[in-house]
Amino acid sequence: MKDNRIPFQKYACRQEQLATQYNWEYFSKQHQKGKLTAKERIEILFDEGSFEEIDAFVKPAGNITTNVYGDGVICGHGKINGRKVFAFAQDFTFMGGSLGAVHADKIMKVQDMAHSMGHPIIGLIDSGGARIQEGIASLAGYAGIFHRNVKSSGVIPQISVILGPAAGGAVYSPALTDFIFMTRQTAYMFVTGPDIVKEVLNEEINSEDLGGASIHSSKSGVANFIYDDEENTLLGVRKLLQYLPSNNVDFPPAPIQDAIAPDNPQKLGIIIPEEANIPYDMIDIIQNIIDKNSFFEISENFAGNIITGLARLQNKVIGIVANQPKVLAGVLDINSAEKGARFVRFCDAFNIPLLVLEDVPGFLPGSDQEHSGIIRRGAKLLYAFSEATIPKITVIVRKAYGGAYIVMNSKNMGGDFNFAWPTAEIAVMGPEGAVKILYRKELAQSKNAEELKAQLITDYKENIANPYIADEKGYVDEVIAPANTRPKLISAFDALENKFMEKSAKKHGNIPL
Ligand code: HXC
Repeated sequence: MKDNRIPFQKYACRQEQLATQYNWEYFSKQHQKGKLTAKERIEILFDEGSFEEIDAFVKPAGNITTNVYGDGVICGHGKINGRKVFAFAQDFTFMGGSLGAVHADKIMKVQDMAHSMGHPIIGLIDSGGARIQEGIASLAGYAGIFHRNVKSSGVIPQISVILGPAAGGAVYSPALTDFIFMTRQTAYMFVTGPDIVKEVLNEEINSEDLGGASIHSSKSGVANFIYDDEENTLLGVRKLLQYLPSNNVDFPPAPIQDAIAPDNPQKLGIIIPEEANIPYDMIDIIQNIIDKNSFFEISENFAGNIITGLARLQNKVIGIVANQPKVLAGVLDINSAEKGARFVRFCDAFNIPLLVLEDVPGFLPGSDQEHSGIIRRGAKLLYAFSEATIPKITVIVRKAYGGAYIVMNSKNMGGDFNFAWPTAEIAVMGPEGAVKILYRKELAQSKNAEELKAQLITDYKENIANPYIADEKGYVDEVIAPANTRPKLISAFDALENKFMEKSAKKHGNIPL
């Protein structure tokens, strides 16, 4: 492992002074914890030799005397996959990576540069939070960083990588960015740590169980990506950037290799089981539509009943939102609605066209969902799809019932192209429920109730829940053969290339947060 105290720009006249900065004890402490130093992280993240450090020789503010330069954070810019990216990397070996006034000034400077020059920014977080010795100046520093996070939201992609502690209010800068990466075992995020939890609630919990990567990627949904070690976490960031434009008026980069179509489009015709209640894996459908090996799933371990991810279709980046029948039958609930809504808004902000693959039986019923706010939280997905002006295409592959049908980018909500497979069932509710309501009396009086019910269900599927009825009325644009899905989508996204929607003059809407 290399020492990370020598700034990237080496000024000959400073070399002597720099020699006094080494403190091997601190580096080995970092390595013993299974963590890399800030400089090592930067080296993995950026294309070799491309990183240019700025403000390498600043010193902490106020009464803190040290012969170490940089105030605990490396800031600068370099190239990732050949494209310019700004970054800051907190150095835990200097005062625990804590944020004082100068440390904050350095971060704000690269935030401003990234914003005005239109490049993504990545924060590598490993910090004990606000520097206690600097008091209010540290808090003001955080406030300035948060303010810039918000200003840059929707202008440049902002990515946070948590590689150590992120405690207290310090969690809110990552929370304001577009994506959060975490490393298992060594990264944790919480507003109040285990000691305060014990003091206030008398609850014993360790850092990992309170705010480790596993918890945040599966339970809270705070982290979008987790990896076993730092190297893979940083390589994950590089991979994500392959799909993202540099800013809101740019377009995603060309692929590293040319599109390879899935082997056998006929496979799409055999994924959906005969029986409507049998689950299947929506990922199989996705993989048989998009370019080979191009799917990059986001928030994979959280709210698995909805899938969100980036992919390429004939080389062009698209965002995918899909119901997952394998998890909770693909129902919409509070977590899946929020996960979907956030992703739709990200795609909309950064000109990434959306593909919706729909198989949704409805909203999850129950007091737990109602009391947790399925009304206001479900409305977020509705709002997000409706306000998005990017190209939006839906393919209904099986169920599309009730309110959930409307939410999932239906035609009247602004879907640009809405297709259905012959297996689609589009109706106010599923056949079982509908028949029970419509024919209660008849079923109660019938001597062959089961037989009658089966017949009524068949009639309902044929005459009401049938995609050709939606097609006749124009609620779907075309019923397509599953094997034709890829060429149909390529053609439809092509047609949408010049989509233009005038924005209204309002300041901003009031999304139900
Ligand atoms: C100044 C700090 C510091 C801090 C750590 N250090 N946190 N110095 N301000 N906030 C210093 C330690 O004194 C120590 O210095 C060195 O960093 C390494 O810390 P250790 O405790 O030895 O490391 P470790 O055992 O790994 O524990 C890491 C830690 C712990 C869990 C992060 O240091 C800790 O709990 N720190 C305080 C966290 C916190 O409460 N921060 C304030 C949150 S409130 P020496 O010289 O001994 O090596 C906040 C408000 C933000 O951030 C407001 C925004 C709105």
